[in-house]
Amino acid sequence: MNKINTAVLVSGGGTNLQAIIDREKSGGLPHVKLALVLSSQENAYALERAKNAGIPAFAFSKKKLGSQAAFEAALIGKLEEYGVELLVLAGFLSILSADFTKRYERRIINIHPALIPSFCGEGYYGLKVHEAALARGVKITGATVHFVNEIPDGGEIIAQKAVRIYSGDTPEKLQKRVMKQAEWKLLPAALEKVAAELADS
Ligand code: GRF
Repeated sequence: MNKINTAVLVSGGGTNLQAIIDREKSGGLPHVKLALVLSSQENAYALERAKNAGIPAFAFSKKKLGSQAAFEAALIGKLEEYGVELLVLAGFLSILSADFTKRYERRIINIHPALIPSFCGEGYYGLKVHEAALARGVKITGATVHFVNEIPDGGEIIAQKAVRIYSGDTPEKLQKRVMKQAEWKLLPAALEKVAAELADS
């Protein structure tokens, strides 16, 4: 089977990366080869997860590199070195330039912890997304996987899954439920779908 060399880009704990690793190990990602993990944070626990799984992993600090252009050049250097054809943003907290997203058009997917177009775009990341959903009083939220273009959370939607909100929810409780019921299932499934389409094209 033709496998697509895939990189996962992270910044933090990497539970979504772990969900992808676990799905791959159990044979659920037949079109995906996990070739590389790149982090925007040198101390991200996601790097440990990658190492434990035997996946090459590297961190680049935008601050140390001095500019967005230098940061993206470093990422592209590794992506090319490892022959990466598909990128997954899994809790990657750095915004990518239009030059970068155009270079990998329809080859970057992202997971967002809400039902786009709700609670998305610039400034909506991590717990802030769940705080906003609770503040607005919606009864249903969820997660969305979408292609990445130059507009934050603006690319074509690939998959969504709804999650209920209960009275007494805190942002932390809600974040955990959205991860468990939606993100950790939705992202590996969407990744396999996109990789299978690329493999067949
Ligand atoms: C997830 O909620 C993801 O949707 C968001 O950032 C969080 C990352 O969590 N973009 P983790 O690093 O995968 O544990």
